[in-house]
Amino acid sequence: MTGRLKGKKALITGAGGALGSSIARTFADEGVECLALVDIAEDSLASVAQELDNRGAELIAARLDITDGDAFDSLVTDVVERFSGVDIMVNNAGGISPNARIHNLSTQDWVDCLSVNLTGTFHGIRAGVRAMRGRGGGSIINTASVAGLTAWPYCAPYSAAKAGIVHLTRVAALEYVKDGVRVNCVCPGAFPSTLTRNLVDGALNVIEARHPGGLGTAADLVGAFTYLASDESRWTTGHALVVDGGYSLP
Ligand SMILES: NC(=O)c1ccc[n+]([C@@H]2O[C@H](COP(=O)([O-])OP(=O)(O)OC[C@H]3O[C@@H](n4cnc5c(N)ncnc54)[C@H](O)[C@@H]3O)[C@@H](O)[C@H]2O)c1
Repeated sequence: MTGRLKGKKALITGAGGALGSSIARTFADEGVECLALVDIAEDSLASVAQELDNRGAELIAARLDITDGDAFDSLVTDVVERFSGVDIMVNNAGGISPNARIHNLSTQDWVDCLSVNLTGTFHGIRAGVRAMRGRGGGSIINTASVAGLTAWPYCAPYSAAKAGIVHLTRVAALEYVKDGVRVNCVCPGAFPSTLTRNLVDGALNVIEARHPGGLGTAADLVGAFTYLASDESRWTTGHALVVDGGYSLP
């Protein structure tokens, strides 16, 4: 432990998943004082909470569907009350389905994917800003994707939602810079998780071949989140930090 997040209070969505749980472990190791773990999947959430129990941080584990804006606000209000504030909000929950070309997508497919990835992130930014403004500010970190910077066939709604997150991050950063609220995003390349297991057969091999440095792991990404969460990045806002083993270079 190096204490880069000593004394800070953080909330992470998608904390039961591959990347979210790695971020949670690292934040705990970096000395975060309070940690709210949030996910729609109660089983994986409970197992991450159990693992992090007695690691020094005060913990909350809460089920939340990030597509429900009122529930998101209410949860963040409870967390702020319990922890006496929140300094770091990681809007990381997301999902890639459906995998199909545009002519095979229903309107509902489109709405559902945008709802989780883009609207869910909007809800998180809004709740985070409401909690941090007038309380000394904080750092909001959104999980976008290289799919939001380059075109991903068979993933139009996901790709569009992640591009939306990159731009939403920039707008939010400008709107709240004077309030001391920094808003950045991380654009990961591909790494194995439940999300990649849900890709159509063979798709991950094609994606892997496009990564000059090979596929990553969740552990390869956590440094970017720690940097953006810590005071080391205090003059960085509106940034899309690409961590992709060279995927987006050619
Ligand atoms: N795995 C990759 O290759 C990759 C690449 C780029 C970006 N990402 C992004 O990384 C983030 C984490 O994904 P991961 O790869 O760890 O996948 P994951 O499936 O392991 O984790 C995603 C988590 O989000 C939760 N979630 C989904 N919908 C939710 C909802 N409506 N409300 C609350 N929680 C919800 C899931 O239960 C799950 O625990 C996502 O935003 C994803 O789009 C992943």
